[in-house]
Amino acid sequence: AVQPLILAIESSCDETAAAIIDGEGSMLSDVVASQIDFHARFGGVVPEIASRKHIEAICGVTDECLDVAARALGRSRLRWRDLDAVAVTYAPGLVGALVVGVAFAKGAAWGADLPIIAVNHLEGHLYANRLAEPDIQPPMVVSLVSGGHTMLVHVKDWGDYETLGSTIDDAVGEAFDKVSKALGLGYPGGPIISKYAAQGDAKAIAFPRALMHSGDLRFSLSGLKTAVTTYINKEREAGRELNIPDIAASFEAAVVDVQVSKAHTALKDTGARTFCLGGGVAANPALRGAYEAMCKKHGYRLVMPPLSACGDNAAMIAEVARDRFAQGKFADWSLDVTAHAPL
Ligand code: KG4
Ligand code: ZN
Repeated sequence: AVQPLILAIESSCDETAAAIIDGEGSMLSDVVASQIDFHARFGGVVPEIASRKHIEAICGVTDECLDVAARALGRSRLRWRDLDAVAVTYAPGLVGALVVGVAFAKGAAWGADLPIIAVNHLEGHLYANRLAEPDIQPPMVVSLVSGGHTMLVHVKDWGDYETLGSTIDDAVGEAFDKVSKALGLGYPGGPIISKYAAQGDAKAIAFPRALMHSGDLRFSLSGLKTAVTTYINKEREAGRELNIPDIAASFEAAVVDVQVSKAHTALKDTGARTFCLGGGVAANPALRGAYEAMCKKHGYRLVMPPLSACGDNAAMIAEVARDRFAQGKFADWSLDVTAHAPL
């Protein structure tokens, strides 16, 4: 393997993750431990539980990460001091969850006398696209869609970002989760709703396309969620059986139409010819399909993260860290976490 070897840690929400990357961008190991089962019965991520589960998982996850990388390198073992740096997500996210990753990273780096690299989680989602296609070059427009974020970003260069617009209320993933809850279908809602949607008629119910023609790049999802729950309540009151696939497909189409329309506007406004995705919702098949059609029609290059790198993971953090290492940009021991941080 080519140096530097960097171990990256991600713990901003409900995934405890670690990855090791080498100097050429080969991912020697990529471990993700999801806590989702512990949160599912509460219908969402419970911050206190997230912190506790990160503490329980982080030693095992990083041990496994080192073991997997050792095997990839054909060595009997890999120790912390065989690495060249430790990278960690420091913001944005749940403070108590971030603290676990940052404190652990600092301890490990101190013990092995390694430098620390601090990574913004949202920048990680941008870099997830480089895991799919290492040669992509800015300028590009990236749509970040997750349970906590809905935004269009103009990547002018790696490290030079402009947020073109974001949601004024709920995030896209949050809307999927709330609709799933209203239908009594469980959490997280995205994968469940998209499975039903594949069997439904997207034109069955006319749900609103909020801010579709607002002329700017802001999003609003809470009205759509209310429209869907109102529809569900009316059907139930009338004693009619719910057609879940049709509701799911019609809801999903309303989301996708607005996302694609605004992404196209962002591409026209910026002049960028490359479009990328990021975040948990980027795994949605209808969204990916609609972007494929839009980019093909207008001649844009489309790059999407591999499905495994849409949701939270440490491989994308490691990919950012590789750039920071090359630039000599390291954090010091005063590194702290931040709940809210722009790109
Ligand atoms: O990026 P992520 O793993 O965590 C953060 O929110 O940062 O995103 C999770 C969100 C959840 O709201 C989940 O319902 C949504 O992504 N999601 C999906 C799909 N898979 C996950 N939404 C729509 N379709 C999917 N296939
Ligand atoms: Zn995320």
